[in-house]
Amino acid sequence: MGTGFAGNIIVVGVCGSIAAFKVAGWVSTLAKEEARVPVVMTDSAQKFITPLTFAALTGESVYTSMFADEHSGAMSHIELAQEASVFLIAPASAQTIARLAHGFADDLLSTAVLATRAPVIVCPAMNTRMYQHRATQDNLSRLRQLGYTVVDPESGLMACKDEGPGRLVEWESVQEVLWRSLRSLDLQGEQVLVTAGPTREPIDPARFISNRSSGKMGYALARAAYRRGADVVLVSGPSTLNCPYGVRRIMVETAAEMFEAVCREFEKATILVKSAAVSDFRPAVQHEHKVKKKNGAPALELVRNPDILYEIGRKKRKPGQLVIGFAAESENLEMEGKRKLQRKNLDMIAVNDISGSDTGFEADTNRLILLTGDETIELPLLSKSETADRIFDVLKEKFRSSPLS
Ligand code: C5P
Repeated sequence: MGTGFAGNIIVVGVCGSIAAFKVAGWVSTLAKEEARVPVVMTDSAQKFITPLTFAALTGESVYTSMFADEHSGAMSHIELAQEASVFLIAPASAQTIARLAHGFADDLLSTAVLATRAPVIVCPAMNTRMYQHRATQDNLSRLRQLGYTVVDPESGLMACKDEGPGRLVEWESVQEVLWRSLRSLDLQGEQVLVTAGPTREPIDPARFISNRSSGKMGYALARAAYRRGADVVLVSGPSTLNCPYGVRRIMVETAAEMFEAVCREFEKATILVKSAAVSDFRPAVQHEHKVKKKNGAPALELVRNPDILYEIGRKKRKPGQLVIGFAAESENLEMEGKRKLQRKNLDMIAVNDISGSDTGFEADTNRLILLTGDETIELPLLSKSETADRIFDVLKEKFRSSPLS
């Protein structure tokens, strides 16, 4: 499946840190996805890994010196800077971070970064104390002020046996930042609130009522919105999925907790997409201790949970605030969708056919019907990530095309 890197020129600046070997893996992945990946290495990077490694992985000349004869077919450092779709500096050493923060141009990498107008992503990796030193932290703040994206390192046991922040971030996160830097940020300025997953309604400390929702659709929506430039909050019921990079996640358990979180976060939201499969019912009584089987099968009395979407739909909205619901249906899809669109006072509803195995709960694909007040749009069977993008495409087109909306 295409990942969106093909055809881009991703200039990777490698500095002297033991983490340089990890970046060889990233470069290889990007090259396989048909991006052009010219690599620029600082002098000390070449002490950790050879230029030949990167040349073999990318099929490109590796740039190591400002004054070296240009290889045939290789770009000059100014061309490199001009042609780049994005600069990815990883691992970024304290030395290179200091150079960039102060605008030095005393090696090829710092010169090329000064000469580029492409987005610059910096992934620091160094000893914990070097990273935490005020000088490095001030330099990183300065890079942020200059408009560079700094991807914070992770915490853990370092090669030097210190423990704390300084480990190069994982590829999964970098990939997200790269995507965001290459896309048109057509959701910039939007505060997107997404709900995902099931809720759990406890019977006793060991048992609960829930449903088969995996959260995949909601997480894909949150990820897509982040990549398109939005600020994203994800209110998630129990799910095994990792929090998408760049997204603020609030974990909840019950419908009541989700209701509380959504009401609070909706105040700041410009778009609410409510893809969570909220339990319609909860046990009337939640037992403090585990219900014993020796007492016989207990009767389970259920009471209604609040319909969060209905309650939000009834509220007065700020101008331009959009509310989008989901409806999981197995028959009369369009009719049921229209009824819920109106009853819950929504701007759009995505109707999900849960009768097939390739759509709806737990599947990686989905086939949705999108209903607005005046239009029905049938999406084909798509991955949940493509489906998420199509939902935002429709939202943009229908509700954000005029400057007044
Ligand atoms: O009416 P129905 O449950 O089919 O509607 C589904 C939509 O309503 C979804 O967007 C879901 O997140 C939302 N919902 C809710 N609170 C409930 C039940 C459903 O917000 N208690």
